[in-house]
Amino acid sequence: MIELRGIGFAVATPRPTRILWPTDLDIGDGESVAIVGPSGAGKTTLASIVGALQAPSEGTYRFDGVEVTGRSLRELARFRSDHLGFVFQNSHLVEERTAQANVELGLGDPSLGPSERGERCLEALGRVGLADIATRRAADLSGGERHRVAIARALVKQPRVVIADEPTAALDQATGRAILELLAEVPRRGSTLVVVTHDVRAAEMADRVVRVVDGSVSEDRA
Ligand SMILES: Nc1ncnc2c1ncn2[C@@H]1O[C@H](COP(=O)(O)OP(=O)(O)O)[C@@H](O)[C@H]1O
Ligand SMILES: [Mg+2]
Repeated sequence: MIELRGIGFAVATPRPTRILWPTDLDIGDGESVAIVGPSGAGKTTLASIVGALQAPSEGTYRFDGVEVTGRSLRELARFRSDHLGFVFQNSHLVEERTAQANVELGLGDPSLGPSERGERCLEALGRVGLADIATRRAADLSGGERHRVAIARALVKQPRVVIADEPTAALDQATGRAILELLAEVPRRGSTLVVVTHDVRAAEMADRVVRVVDGSVSEDRA
């Protein structure tokens, strides 16, 4: 599904710096891939290239055999909305909106009618165990609940790939474990999971572990 060929990332300012050395990475349908490595190694950069949030400075990115590199910003936004779901370290919810309205933001497809939209959102909230707080404002939720809403928002359109960048970093042990269990459901339901993590439990549950050290990418062999 995802084929990265010779993708790398370098910046010119404030001084020329190589952040990611050219690398190949293939990720298949339904796989779970953990991206691990020290802070500042280039993990987020790699994940944001996979997520088409950032263009690589070199190399090519194909998705289902179709070139992603070189598309316009508008086309990239469309590509992300069609295929990808994101979970960030901070939940980035719209505080004044309800949990359900926040989940609905993840539902790109404008062709769905209102009742189907509502159903899909409630189903996604149910998957994360929050169906009963659908009408509560985001501002009134606990940290763990906010995170689960963010996951429901990423899952609601049943994306081909879920990309999570350090999803448990800001959470206590128990909440972090609950979040990992939810993310483990992603590949079980046939979507691909790419998770950047310091958490050994997250790395253990993944099919593959990709390690980034000083911008060099390698894969751990089991
Ligand atoms: N656009 C950019 N411009 C300059 N430096 C960057 C840019 N993006 C990332 N970096 C630097 O590249 C390194 C790797 O960043 P990042 O991918 O966020 O690492 P990680 O997620 O592994 O902590 C860091 O030193 C960061 O400051
Ligand atoms: Mg990072």
